[in-house]
Amino acid sequence: MKFNFHVPVAVRFGKGVANEIGSVVKPYGSKALIVYGGSSIKRNGVYDTVTASLREAGVEWLELPGVEPNPKVTSVDKGAAICKENGVELVIAAGGGSCVDCAKAICAAAFYDGPAWDLVENRSLVKKALPLFVVLTLAATGSEMDSGGIITNPETKVKSGVGSPLLMPKVSFLDPTYTFTVPARQTAAGTADIFAHTIENYFDSATDTYFVDGVAESILRTCVKYGPIAIREPENEEARANLMWASPWAINGLISCGRNEGWTLHGLQHPIGGWYDITHGEGLAILTPHWFRKILSEKTVGKFVSYGVNVFGIDPSLDPFEIANKAIEATEDFFFNQMKIPRTLSEIGVDDKHFEEMAQAAAPGMARAYVPLSKEEIIELYRAAL
Ligand code: NZQ
Ligand code: ZN
Repeated sequence: MKFNFHVPVAVRFGKGVANEIGSVVKPYGSKALIVYGGSSIKRNGVYDTVTASLREAGVEWLELPGVEPNPKVTSVDKGAAICKENGVELVIAAGGGSCVDCAKAICAAAFYDGPAWDLVENRSLVKKALPLFVVLTLAATGSEMDSGGIITNPETKVKSGVGSPLLMPKVSFLDPTYTFTVPARQTAAGTADIFAHTIENYFDSATDTYFVDGVAESILRTCVKYGPIAIREPENEEARANLMWASPWAINGLISCGRNEGWTLHGLQHPIGGWYDITHGEGLAILTPHWFRKILSEKTVGKFVSYGVNVFGIDPSLDPFEIANKAIEATEDFFFNQMKIPRTLSEIGVDDKHFEEMAQAAAPGMARAYVPLSKEEIIELYRAAL
């Protein structure tokens, strides 16, 4: 086993932690840009808390509101221009993963003389970045503790990422009570995203990963236990807190240690997200059982057995393929019955018009896949999920 693991993100976790954001950011500068989405942070008090704390610490701020779910590169360009024109010294993302990702790209684009999309196409152009602080309001992407940001180019329909260690947040404020107002549909999609990040790592050809397999199983069990509770009881702090703390560990590199990191599901989902403005976690949940059925074989069945037994408590004495099939059915029950995620791509507005282009975009990403899929197999999978 051989790997590097370095996640220099300070986390402040718990109710009320964002009250201190002003004094935490102050050593980095006195002029901030707050990046946020629609009106959720105005409705649930996050905006008031952050701005009151900045005011108290003597930090001025500018704002970039209106960041879209699946943030567009146009928002990044807009934010970078504000930073350049006003001498912004630090960026605060207040919202879900889309705000955090957009803010990451802004932090890099603020020091780049050209269109921000260049930084997506060529990550080595990120040489310097403004310091980023995160006030998270949705447990899903793990962007609060990783180095990547996913951006969409509406002209070319490409959904891809900026990425650099320079884009790791300096401090992430994780207050689970801020997620009380996340609607059921987004809670389900966010939980499915955490789940998907974990299985991307768990279903991997490396075999000497006993420790991180156990961590991954714990994250998966956390999603299965608390996702449905958070949907039924949005203000259940135990459920929200466990989901919020599980989320970054699904993607910050810990459970990837020693693995090949195929990330097939995301490779299949992002081209769909480029063409259709869908909710990321819903796309992943819909694709997962189809992907599972495609990759189940004599070679992979052992992994499905561990998954079925250790995540869903399936009887280990059964035939391995029976366990595997029961595990896939349990996954479907979790996503589609308990969390009420739509079951098909059609239900979320995707049709078959662009399967060819989508598969073309996904195919090169299969290089390190657990089970590589050809372009034709990818189209078959999309068709099955339709
Ligand atoms: O815009 P507002 O009004 O804030 O509403 C948002 C948005 O409509 C709402 N919301 C967020 N927090 C809320 C809330 N509503 C009420 N109360 C709250 N506390 O939820 C909606 C979705 O928000 P968004 O930020 O888009 O969701 P999510 O966190 O799932 O982020 C999705 C984006 O992250 C990317 C996805 O591709 C997608 O673009 N990803 C980023 C990753 C990363 N950086 O590491 C990895 C992921 O795999 C993923 O690709
Ligand atoms: Zn994801």
